Amino acid sequence: MIDERFAYDNLEEFQRVTQELNTYKDIDAILDKILLEARNMARADAGSIFLLEDKGLRFRYVQNDTLFNNNKGIVELYSDLIVPIDTNSIVGYTAATGKGVAIDDAYSIPKNQPYRFNPEFDEQSGYHTRSVLTIPLQTLEARTVGIMELINAKDLKGNYIPFDRTTRIFIPLFANHAALAIERGIMNRELILRMMRMAELRDPTETGPHVQRVGAYCAEIFQQLAGKRGIDPQKIRRTKDLIRLASMLHDVGKIGIHDNILKKPDKLTSREFDTMKWHPVHGARLFANTTSDLDVMSRDISLHHHEKWDGSGYPGKIDNLWADMPGTGHQLKEKEIPLPARITALADVFDALASRRSYKKAWSEDRILTTISRESGRHFDPEVVSAFLDIQDIIAAIQKRYKD
Ligand code: C2E
Ligand code: SIN
Ligand code: SIN
Ligand code: FE
Ligand code: FE
Repeated sequence: MIDERFAYDNLEEFQRVTQELNTYKDIDAILDKILLEARNMARADAGSIFLLEDKGLRFRYVQNDTLFNNNKGIVELYSDLIVPIDTNSIVGYTAATGKGVAIDDAYSIPKNQPYRFNPEFDEQSGYHTRSVLTIPLQTLEARTVGIMELINAKDLKGNYIPFDRTTRIFIPLFANHAALAIERGIMNRELILRMMRMAELRDPTETGPHVQRVGAYCAEIFQQLAGKRGIDPQKIRRTKDLIRLASMLHDVGKIGIHDNILKKPDKLTSREFDTMKWHPVHGARLFANTTSDLDVMSRDISLHHHEKWDGSGYPGKIDNLWADMPGTGHQLKEKEIPLPARITALADVFDALASRRSYKKAWSEDRILTTISRESGRHFDPEVVSAFLDIQDIIAAIQKRYKD
């Protein structure tokens, strides 16, 4: 039986959550929100989301209140695990059969079930998995986009208990909305990657992995910086959503630069570099008719990602994107440069230095970190540098996840 009062409260909550979910754009932000809300509704200590790919189920998102209240959780997000779609594992079974599974104790699954619990994660982390609830993430048209796995339902005292009947009814309803949001998030990410592939046809250094890395660095640097400032978690989540997508587009304006310059295998002359200085303006023009927060942030980042904290960057103040020349207006410095652009400036240079370019070799990590520290307060915002240095473990995980 469903407790009616509880069901009613859940319905109101349910409506608020699904509406809110529709406002998120980026796939990572959507997965974060889905798992957070599903775990709230189910009072689950932990959970993961796997997304369906050709090769199998890609482990794509994880939260764990007991283990991860620090960078460790974020490092896990960039791991690269694929589970086969077969009935041997719990999530594999869920994907293969389209049926959710509720397990009261992972260590005593009835022998007549085909699937087994894989204790590897518990063994490595010291975590203890008891109850498990898996839910196929299916749209109303029955397209499966992935699997959600919730772990360890808790009673009010925090003891691990089986998932109750109410949860087992509500979570699959939520899963329909979640699946739609995930489809939208994947589409948004792919549209941006496609836009970048067009730019890549012009500039082979602006590759998919490069823009995915820059997007991830910016999102994580922002989260660290905003957390230190004590910004409200809800606001952090929203801005993190936008900055990941917007920063991926920072160099899309290179599409407007002639091949003679863009593909030159050696150093640019100062005249050629003056032409190069138009790329932020070309990019910003694509977002000139701003109709959303994402457009505004994409324009700010595109236009100002080569500004420097000490005022020596470009293009400086541009009032009219179709008339003003880079380098002729007021030079922007410090907090006149929008925060997302200050963050992207560091992420972009870090990635450029760590990569080989036709005109330069990849630098050693030592040399990069020395340079970035030296440029704190000159090229870069010191607060951004400090947040970046705090999260070197996450930065390394991102580099591993999105290799060239
Ligand atoms: P990019 O290659 O993506 O580099 C982005 C930024 O990373 C550069 O902005 C610069 O701040 C930093 N960076 C990259 N390589 C080096 C380096 O070897 N040393 C140092 N100290 N910093 C580096 P910047 O300078 O405004 O350049 C913007 C874009 O202009 C570059 O994007 C690249 O597409 C082009 N570019 C810049 N210099 C040259 C060059 O000498 N030859 C060619 N072919 N292209 C260049
Ligand atoms: C997805 O399938 O999660 C979107 C692309 C990606 O981030 O890998
Ligand atoms: C902001 O958070 O965007 C304003 C403050 C700053 O630019 O650092
Ligand atoms: Fe650029
Ligand atoms: Fe770039």
